[in-house]
Amino acid sequence: MERDDRQELIDRKRDVPGDDLLSALIDEHTRQDGPRLNRSELVAMAFLLLFGGYHNSAGLVSTTVLALLSHPAHLAAVRSRELAMDQVTEEALRWNSPAMLAVRRFATEDMRIGEAAIRKGERVWLSWASANRDPGQFLAPETFDPTRDARGHLAFGHGPHYCPGASLARLENEIAVTSLVRRFTELPLVGPAGESQWTMSLRNRSLRELPVSL
Ligand code: HEM
Repeated sequence: MERDDRQELIDRKRDVPGDDLLSALIDEHTRQDGPRLNRSELVAMAFLLLFGGYHNSAGLVSTTVLALLSHPAHLAAVRSRELAMDQVTEEALRWNSPAMLAVRRFATEDMRIGEAAIRKGERVWLSWASANRDPGQFLAPETFDPTRDARGHLAFGHGPHYCPGASLARLENEIAVTSLVRRFTELPLVGPAGESQWTMSLRNRSLRELPVSL
């Protein structure tokens, strides 16, 4: 969602408020006794909630479904309840991290990370997705293996900006994917998994479409 779209959405909600979180946040901006959120904070919060709360979660559901449909043994184990969906969710987060890049950081001092020398003030892009496939951390990191212990992945970030929606996102994924694969016991992929249509974004890993036949 572009900045102009967010502004437009906020203007629309301000004119016609609804019973929703964004309308409540706009109230905080337009309060008679002085705003508790200024305009930039409101726009930034709208972005975080819409992008984080929607795109990343949708990305996780779509890539977890693809992972299971292309690994029939794991799919069968989920359906028979031998494999718990929370394990599948953790491994899906590690294997196909929906938020691939961190919000940009600036170095507060000179430092060295691995072979890279970073000078104070330089912009740093951290890649959660790359860390989650670090062979020093995970054995055979390119393999989707929900029986592994995937704890310690960085799909929800790290430190003070750790995702506040992590528990909600995990729960949404567990409910959505379990309901889908248990309800539709026949859900073959149309075409090879490698031909799936991915969104073209450096930040967000999700599928544009996932054709299946019913
Ligand atoms: C699978 C789903 C999700 C993933 C993979 C994800 C990932 C992340 C990551 C990696 C960060 C840290 C960004 C950084 O430090 O650079 C983050 C922050 C954040 N996420 Fe999520 N997120 C998800 C779902 C959600 C949901 C459902 C919400 C809210 C409803 C949410 C709201 C936020 C907010 C507000 C921040 C900013 C926190 C801060 O800067 O202090 N996210 N998320």
